[in-house]
Amino acid sequence: MSERKQIEISKEKIEEQDKFIELLHRTNEDYFNKSGSRKTYSLVTYGCQMNEHDSEMLISMLESMGYARSISEDKADLVIYNTCAVRENAELKVYGNLGHLKSVKKNRPDMKIAVCGCMMQQPHVVEEIKKKYRHVDLIFGTHNLYKFPQLLSDTFGREKMLVDVWDVDGEVVEGLKSDRKFSVKAFVNIMYGCNNFCTYCIVPYTRGRERSRLPEDIIFEIKELVSNGVKEVTLLGQNVNSYGKTLEESKKITFAQLLREVNEIEGIERIRFMTSHPKDISDEVIYAIRDCDKVCEFLHLPFQSGSTALLKKMNRHYTKEDYLNIIKKAKSEIPNIAFSTDIMIGFPGETDADIDDTIDVCEETRYDSAFTFIYSKRTGTPAARMENQIPEDVKHQRFDRVLEVVNRISAEKNEEYDSKIVEVLVEGSSKKYSDIMTGKTRQNKTVNFTGGGEDLVGKIVNILIKETRSFSLNGELVEIIR
Ligand code: 5AD
Ligand code: SF4
Repeated sequence: MSERKQIEISKEKIEEQDKFIELLHRTNEDYFNKSGSRKTYSLVTYGCQMNEHDSEMLISMLESMGYARSISEDKADLVIYNTCAVRENAELKVYGNLGHLKSVKKNRPDMKIAVCGCMMQQPHVVEEIKKKYRHVDLIFGTHNLYKFPQLLSDTFGREKMLVDVWDVDGEVVEGLKSDRKFSVKAFVNIMYGCNNFCTYCIVPYTRGRERSRLPEDIIFEIKELVSNGVKEVTLLGQNVNSYGKTLEESKKITFAQLLREVNEIEGIERIRFMTSHPKDISDEVIYAIRDCDKVCEFLHLPFQSGSTALLKKMNRHYTKEDYLNIIKKAKSEIPNIAFSTDIMIGFPGETDADIDDTIDVCEETRYDSAFTFIYSKRTGTPAARMENQIPEDVKHQRFDRVLEVVNRISAEKNEEYDSKIVEVLVEGSSKKYSDIMTGKTRQNKTVNFTGGGEDLVGKIVNILIKETRSFSLNGELVEIIR
């Protein structure tokens, strides 16, 4: 199908949903007029930024349907779990919550319960919910999010659970509105799915094959965001460095070219992106970060393990040396670059010597922040069938060893900022104290500061750092730059 045709179809599909939005809006207004209170929703999101962004779109639809946010899950008229399948823990929480809602729904039979997201793309999960959690009203997947108003509307007057989960290689549907959480920064999907099949990872099975959005659609969306006051965008994809590969020949551009095009958009202050796969990051991407004034000096580059042998078993397609060479190149081309990463502990067959390699990479790169994960067995992935699964207590000991190194380095990196002036994009007031404002540096460091108020939101300011902590910096306003 041609891409232009695809956009036209998207428009039709979205417009079709407007009917259902209006229908539910009317029903909810009637309810409000009669009862004096609004129908409410509670939406819980698990997992990555993609899910966060999907939830923003769900919220936008819910609010157009006249739902108000509920203060408590048990009191909500509609509860939605947007689930994650990457690790078992998040899955168990969803089952636990669904179990709890069973008794709540007994007392409030009109309550609607919907589950969506990556977990629902796994047939065994859907079967489990159908069998053990019959009080659920609606199950939908990751590719038919735009159809939510219709699906929700179909649950009314229906006894049986409604299940609408598509094949994983769903199309790209353009034009969905989203309720962005921050007025200052926004996520923008540039691609969906993943073709890499790292042997531990469920994502290629739940989010399907890689599909890139058209550059003009991405640029259009960002321009619209900017006109609504957004100053920072994060370009999202499972593997942004392979952006463009699925585009028609005449539209093909690389990720580096996309960065350069986004950099030309007037009014945007900062550009970030995630996630980068070390096997695909090209020198051109590093040069684009170096050359583009709005692209922040920050690279999230998951390495998972420092052991070349384990990386092979993980199907990652790079060695410890390849990875460190990329870091070296980035450090030499981009002054002040900060790094973050994902590290996995306890992959099948892992030895203490493999952990030494992982610690080596941490010491050599010196990450500003690192997300450490204990390997979690995912049904259907090759690693789940591998021999030499690591016992839980060994995983935890190794995890603690790596965490200590990672935390020490982060704290040391932050100490380097003591008494320095840093450039911060102000995001809002701190959660705890209203007289303390908060924002981020270009290197993605959280800075809390005194001396300014809400009028600074969206502004770029200079802050003098007075105190450094492991995960944040505290300081004082020096001047407003713009
Ligand atoms: N177990 C633990 N961590 C995982 N990740 C992906 N799959 C698993 C798994 N089965 C981690 C990887 C990835 C991050 C988003 O989640 O480190 O980079
Ligand atoms: Fe999972 Fe690997 Fe794809 Fe990342 S690149 S989503 S870890 S399969």
